[in-house]
Amino acid sequence: MTPRQRFLAACRCRPVDRPPVWLLRQAGRYMAEYRAVRARHSLLDICRTPALAAEVTITAAERLGVDAAIIFADLLLPAAPLGLELEFAAGEGPRLSPPLRTAEQIARLPEQWGGALDCVSEAIARVRAHFGPGGLPVIGFAGAPFTLASYLIEGGGSRNFIETKRLLHAQPAAWDELMRKLTAGLAGFLEQQAAAGADALHLFDSWAGALSPDDYRRAVLPHTRRLVELAGAAGIPVIYFSTGAAGFLEAVAETGAAVLGLDWRISLSAAWERLSRYVQPPPALQGNLDPALLLAGPEAACAAARAMLAQARGRSGYIFNLGHGILPETPVETVQALIRCVRGD
Ligand code: CP3
Repeated sequence: MTPRQRFLAACRCRPVDRPPVWLLRQAGRYMAEYRAVRARHSLLDICRTPALAAEVTITAAERLGVDAAIIFADLLLPAAPLGLELEFAAGEGPRLSPPLRTAEQIARLPEQWGGALDCVSEAIARVRAHFGPGGLPVIGFAGAPFTLASYLIEGGGSRNFIETKRLLHAQPAAWDELMRKLTAGLAGFLEQQAAAGADALHLFDSWAGALSPDDYRRAVLPHTRRLVELAGAAGIPVIYFSTGAAGFLEAVAETGAAVLGLDWRISLSAAWERLSRYVQPPPALQGNLDPALLLAGPEAACAAARAMLAQARGRSGYIFNLGHGILPETPVETVQALIRCVRGD
């Protein structure tokens, strides 16, 4: 099977010769080639220059020998069409200003983002042309409405999501309007990525686990399900990734995504068991090795990977991945050893 056939078959729960593998944050600071590009360009310059974004995407995927390439971009790029200023201060994480806190600000947000993020689809077209039809599939991505909203409202990363939850609970109509507008904008952005040649679309709901099951179901799920439906209309698989959400895995499955990306807080076997009881056929699963295992050396990482593959043995619909992004401290040799081990080389 070509990597594209293998990856798409796994997304659709069809038989594969072996599970496909790729890694969250496979292009990042742990890799010398990435650091060399970053020494000359800011993160946002790389994201906004299709030739650089394509180079970084391709180099990481080829260096590792994975079965898919996720386009190099950032979840926060939509800040620009939404009228917020975005900066990454060294060592401090992202800052967005002014933070979105009032119904008046939400009423002024645009629903369509126009050509503001054309750089991402142009980068996808370049990566697609590089790999060609027999090569690696390209994964387009965006933040899911809740996780994107949390950055816009908090003005950056957050531990307790105080302002996000304040808006959600105290101003439900403004919250719904925000989620509806973000869903519309994200749908257009994802459609552009599909039209440029993305083979699959990945939604990051990295902080969904901050919510209670009831709040997720009521205030987030309807919008997320709508976005999955709109994104899936292009006919390519949608992967929905969340962390800390195993407590409401069944609600997560109701997004309708073809593939659910899981973190390590639930075992693959437990997830399959619960999902199979809830929906037939269950969605494909992606994940979910704790990225910290890669800090324990190649033997420990490979042993954990083999245990994970054993849980998936005999099932179609499995994509090997980490449960969250590769940590910057990770030795690249350990990552390469892990990939060889999963590929069975
Ligand atoms: O290879 C890939 O995974 C593709 C590239 C990618 C980046 N960001 C580049 C990046 C992807 C998929 C993202 C998604 C993203 N961005 C998420 C969701 C994924 C997740 O981890 O849950 C989030 C929450 C963001 C927002 C973001 N971008 C934060 C909070 C930070 C700061 C983190 C830090 O450690 O400083 C970023 C910066 C960022 N985006 C880096 C990379 C490779 C860090 C490296 C750098 O500064 O060059």
